[in-house]
Amino acid sequence: MSIKRVLVIGPGQMGAGIAQVMAQSGINVVLQGYDMNDAKNGLARITKTLAKGVARGKMTEENKEKALNNITIVGEWNSANCDVDLAIEAVPENKQLKEGIFKKLDELCPAHTILATNTSSLAVVALGAITKRPEKVIGMHFFSPVHIMKLVEVIVSLATNEETISTIMQLATDIGKTPVRMNDYPGFVGNRIMIPMLNEAIFTLYEGVADKETIDNVAKIGFNHPIGPLRLCDAIGNDTVLAIMEVLHEGFGDSKYRPCPLLRKMVEAGYLGKKSGRGFYNDYK
Ligand SMILES: NC(=O)c1ccc[n+]([C@@H]2O[C@H](COP(=O)([O-])OP(=O)(O)OC[C@H]3O[C@@H](n4cnc5c(N)ncnc54)[C@H](O)[C@@H]3O)[C@@H](O)[C@H]2O)c1
Repeated sequence: MSIKRVLVIGPGQMGAGIAQVMAQSGINVVLQGYDMNDAKNGLARITKTLAKGVARGKMTEENKEKALNNITIVGEWNSANCDVDLAIEAVPENKQLKEGIFKKLDELCPAHTILATNTSSLAVVALGAITKRPEKVIGMHFFSPVHIMKLVEVIVSLATNEETISTIMQLATDIGKTPVRMNDYPGFVGNRIMIPMLNEAIFTLYEGVADKETIDNVAKIGFNHPIGPLRLCDAIGNDTVLAIMEVLHEGFGDSKYRPCPLLRKMVEAGYLGKKSGRGFYNDYK
């Protein structure tokens, strides 16, 4: 099946990026926010990223306008907005919230629509099970920042069929990404490796082993990582990091995945990182 029209739900850090890369590839995108204001903020985020691309000579003004013209923003549920070939949700990492979205999508989208989630860790099979089309439910896990990072993890649940998988693998390739297929276990591959490492970096800070700059420098200078783990937590969002650790902890029932108490405190304080203006670092505008 060829994908011509896509609904992206949740115009935040990831959803705006997903909408942008789809629109740049000539796909018609409906970008749905919590309300119209949320959707407008998402579009403003996309406009800003594209404008930066023009300023850096990476794209023409004409291509920027073409991409923007492919995006329609909406703030409410209705069957016209859901008349798409693919719907991808990128709302916050909350099981109840995502379940509600999948129920709504299953109700309003036509029978052929593939339903995808950008979840970082939740079980794709469980989201499929609450729909009447579990064979058309799949994970499409983009990495941040979406317009730069090439990798897309394609998460195949026990119920996902081959037609859905090949459609999504092809779409990811068509929009210039590198899809990798994997099975549906907590954290998939990328986050199962990366998020416990970030949590361990927070433990080293919590236990006073070193200060935040030192911890980040060890990873940057010693491992050649482009960004230190604490700065990366701020970029991902500490709420998202905590949510993924909770899923790994619960999903595997193994204490090695317990979230660091300092991470919990940061989230309780609203120190979510870059998106809230303060995280492990507080030099965000
Ligand atoms: N941040 C990352 O690096 C990253 C990477 C890969 C995957 N993810 C996953 O992507 C998803 C979104 O993460 P994010 O970092 O973009 O979060 P975010 O908080 O930046 O964005 C979430 C967006 O969803 C909107 N929203 C909330 N409820 C909604 C509703 N009912 N209907 C429509 N929109 C609604 C919010 O207003 C916001 O615009 C999560 O599942 C996360 O785990 C995040």
